[in-house]
Amino acid sequence: MEKVKNIIMVIFGASGDLTKRKLMPAIYMLHKDGRLPLSFAIVGISRTPYTDEEYRTYIKENLMLYMKPEEIPSEEDIDKFTSYLHYHAMNPAERDDYKGLNSYLRELDKKIGSKGNYLYYLATPPSLYGVIPQHLKAENLNLNEGKEGKKRIIVEKPFGFDLQSAQSLNEIYRRTFDEEQIFRIDHFLGKETVQNILAFRFANSIFEPLWNRNYVDYVEVTAVENMGIENRGGFFDQTGTLRDMVQNHLIQLLALTAMEPPVAFNATSFRDEVLKVYNSLIPLNETDLREHIVRGQYIASERDQSYREEKNVDPQSRTETYIAMRLELNNWRWKGVPFYIRTGKQMPTKVSEIVIHFKPTPQLLFNCEQGECPKANKLILRIQPNEGILLKIGTKVPGTGFDIHEVEMDFNYKDFNNLSTEDAYSRLIEDCILGDPTLFTRSDAVEASWKFFSPILDYWKNHPEAPLYGYPAGSWGPKESEAMMTEHHAEWTNPCKNLTKTNLYCEL
Ligand SMILES: NC(=O)c1ccc[n+]([C@@H]2O[C@H](COP(=O)([O-])OP(=O)(O)OC[C@H]3O[C@@H](n4cnc5c(N)ncnc54)[C@H](OP(=O)(O)O)[C@@H]3O)[C@@H](O)[C@H]2O)c1
Repeated sequence: MEKVKNIIMVIFGASGDLTKRKLMPAIYMLHKDGRLPLSFAIVGISRTPYTDEEYRTYIKENLMLYMKPEEIPSEEDIDKFTSYLHYHAMNPAERDDYKGLNSYLRELDKKIGSKGNYLYYLATPPSLYGVIPQHLKAENLNLNEGKEGKKRIIVEKPFGFDLQSAQSLNEIYRRTFDEEQIFRIDHFLGKETVQNILAFRFANSIFEPLWNRNYVDYVEVTAVENMGIENRGGFFDQTGTLRDMVQNHLIQLLALTAMEPPVAFNATSFRDEVLKVYNSLIPLNETDLREHIVRGQYIASERDQSYREEKNVDPQSRTETYIAMRLELNNWRWKGVPFYIRTGKQMPTKVSEIVIHFKPTPQLLFNCEQGECPKANKLILRIQPNEGILLKIGTKVPGTGFDIHEVEMDFNYKDFNNLSTEDAYSRLIEDCILGDPTLFTRSDAVEASWKFFSPILDYWKNHPEAPLYGYPAGSWGPKESEAMMTEHHAEWTNPCKNLTKTNLYCEL
């Protein structure tokens, strides 16, 4: 891909949490690795009044707080980095303020020679995602200029709250930017281990013949965390886990696991295959909505307070902090194979992984050590932590007899000496600078995903009696999520064993 020489990155929401905790450290890492364009500037935009100097100091202080300890920059380097920063106070919701923004950018452009090459990042409340592109268009700040003056726009998640709002938002973007200018970001896809699912599947031939309904019994996709909602009560109570995690992160992990090989590794082919997976999800009927979804909310335990006691959460809230679901795909490869997905807050540990359960051998020829038979092979794609790949196989216990014992063949990312500690945001921001949309969600995929998940939200809205199960903070969620799998003789792979009521927490 061609090296971009000059660019101005315009961050809306520059005084917010995402900017200070994620974006600035990620851009700093690009600077440190010499991966920023030769001539580069960041313009921070929000209503809070800062001078350039004040904004630089604010970002410097936060870099010290949020960079990994081993990556904390030297004073000299941080000054070099913060010299890229400029600040323009305005209200992104106000049409008139964009005239000033236009003049401001043109002035800066003359100084750094960016020739109209602007990358907008929308890190504001989602209510502004539809407003900002229209105001940019009113000032022609959406139009490409010549060969180099590209305009690109990165939109944070959530892209819509349901199918209708996602469609309306897409409609606004269709009127203001071309699809190739739009980058709907979901940082999960920037993770090295998520991309490695593709490499594992499509750079190796040995698993492909097994990767289908003939050999796979069921698939688990888990992305859970051991924290509560921290200070995001106001946001989370309006959003819930289905919107925050399932509709985007989990479904993407499922898509990478289930998709067909793209004809080539380019944005169009890759995103076409992701879309096909979303379109093959079998819509949930009333029975599925009742029996194949378990939603939960954490209650107080010795480890922590309940969700309803969290700051800015309605004490009567019925917002879900946990979801487990059974999904099926209607296609040749996967028909009849259940995909169990789950995500939750206040779980015993933080882990994201995909577990492929292969079918058991047709006959058990051997004894099993202490009666515990390895039922079948499992392949675990570990996204985080302890990033790696594990294959569980049965082997003979040495000695007399033929007892079988389960062992692991594993690959650990740590084995790479030069393991990249790169953050997902660094990778994705660099892709936007280069104009590569492969790892970003296309408009049709957003709508296909919402088309599947919106009926769940409607069902809960229309059936206030639909169960919301309590689970103690620090446990593996409602026991109903286990019951949901029994009809298939399936079970969750929980990395921590032997949790007791007083010892709910475990580290991997
Ligand atoms: N934080 C995260 O880790 C994270 C992760 C993934 C996605 N996101 C998404 O990223 C976006 C930003 O999140 P955040 O956590 O950074 O939010 P935040 O801390 O509330 O920051 C929002 C930013 O927008 C500005 N803003 C707030 N209300 C506004 C209004 N009514 N009109 C104009 N500007 C307003 C604020 O600046 P002023 O008040 O100075 O104008 C601030 O700079 C959200 O959509 C969120 O869903 C966040």
